[in-house]
Amino acid sequence: MSTRSVLVFASADELAAFFTDKLIKAMASLKAGQYFSLLLSGGSTPRMVYEYLSRNQNSIPWQRLQLFWGDERCVPPDQDESNYKMVKNSLLDHVPIPSDNIFRIKGESDPQTEAVRYAETLSNQVPSKNGLPCFDLVMLGLGDDGHTASLFPNDTKNLFSEGLFEVAAHPESGQRRVTATLQLINNARTIVFLVTGKSKAGMLARILGKSGENYPAPMWENYPAALVEAKNGEVIWLVDQDAAPGYKVGLTI
Ligand code: 6PG
Repeated sequence: MSTRSVLVFASADELAAFFTDKLIKAMASLKAGQYFSLLLSGGSTPRMVYEYLSRNQNSIPWQRLQLFWGDERCVPPDQDESNYKMVKNSLLDHVPIPSDNIFRIKGESDPQTEAVRYAETLSNQVPSKNGLPCFDLVMLGLGDDGHTASLFPNDTKNLFSEGLFEVAAHPESGQRRVTATLQLINNARTIVFLVTGKSKAGMLARILGKSGENYPAPMWENYPAALVEAKNGEVIWLVDQDAAPGYKVGLTI
């Protein structure tokens, strides 16, 4: 059964500290020979968390962590728009993670071919549950328009895809992306949304106000992040006070 909780922090740093602690505790229950599979996100709040992890890296067993990406912009890995480059600069360059544990989406490849290749990579690397790869932990950001990963509003083809990865186009720039599908994300054990800043407040309030079963599904296609639910565990929203001005710090909603 899926559960959802929302935790409000006074600052992005406290939010990042909580995430780091959660990762360490979750990795502590790994059995011998097991890896911990983490699906990474692009975006400004996830980047702050990567920077925090780099500064507080000592308690993390990097050899046991496998990193995957939930979405990638279709650009080469050395371009500033690349999510791989963002994670490399903020995290990978600073921590002792073996290169064999890093599974990037090749933004420089043909997107359709890459979506298929990456889905195969995941299927080979990540243990499955319900016939689908089941990530130990998925990190997600929230776009001001309600998108998450590169699942954009009203992109029903990708939102309800039965595949693992698809090709999407950014609704304004048209930039192509390779993105995890909702069914892959929702099959994770734990899903953590990382949301900070005033610009997110309106969308966050709308999404957290969702009461679920009473709403007809089509309405929620406008807000892909509202369709995220962990079929095998929990969704945790880590938000700062700027993004959740109506809520008290320390509150679990
Ligand atoms: C990306 C994403 C995307 C991101 C949100 C939030 O590559 O852009 O993976 O889903 O997480 O857009 O990004 P910001 O925190 O920068 O607004």
